[in-house]
Amino acid sequence: MRIPIIIANWKMHKTNKEACELVKEIREKVVDVTNVEIVICPPFTALLAVREIINNSKIALGAQNLHWEKQGAYTGEISPVMLKEIGCKYVIVGHSERRMYFHETDEIVNLKVKAALSHGLSPVMCLGETLEEREKRLTEKAVERQIINGLRDVGKEQILNVLIAYEPLWAIGSGKAATPSQAQEVHAFLRNLLVQLYSPKIASQIHIQYGGSVKPENMREFMKEEDIDGAMVGGASLETDSFVRIVKY
Ligand code: PGA
Repeated sequence: MRIPIIIANWKMHKTNKEACELVKEIREKVVDVTNVEIVICPPFTALLAVREIINNSKIALGAQNLHWEKQGAYTGEISPVMLKEIGCKYVIVGHSERRMYFHETDEIVNLKVKAALSHGLSPVMCLGETLEEREKRLTEKAVERQIINGLRDVGKEQILNVLIAYEPLWAIGSGKAATPSQAQEVHAFLRNLLVQLYSPKIASQIHIQYGGSVKPENMREFMKEEDIDGAMVGGASLETDSFVRIVKY
């Protein structure tokens, strides 16, 4: 019922020229792919050019961040209106790198989630525990806090446009992915919270993505888990072969 969604998060990689080359190769190699939604999130500087290349293809466009205001004196920021106008469908919100290096709090994440929704963008709201939290058995507490605060005032009519991405911090870029059962455990916990926050029917329709060292070699195992609905891929999305193999898991 939940079509798998595979999101390429290119982070601060690829110039405009490099991005175009990569996305052209990917586009050609996924023409035969069915029943998977592919989303590419290049840096802001490549969004427009990538959009031109993926027109009429199976690939959707996403941004990696946004500001919550429509416009204003916020030097260096990009608004939801701008992203929508150039054809973004998705936007990553609250990635752990944004939380860690740019001090994004749950409250800021919530403002961004609501801003994305009110402009017709689907926010991919990221959350996950640190290694210390996992070792202290505080994983559920950490993700519960993040999901409740991040979705504050997001109503039943809007929640189906939100994607959740569970990305344990210790698994991101470390080559040390969570095991499929570790991830499944947290995904099931999150889905159960969504049942309580919304309803069983709504919760069963919400995508919960796994992210953190997803590779061609482990993708299939993750996708066997009941509550894992796709992946968010960083490092392995920067190269055609590995990303296409993930898409074709
Ligand atoms: P990774 O990054 O695949 O390189 O671990 C995932 C992410 O940060 O979204």
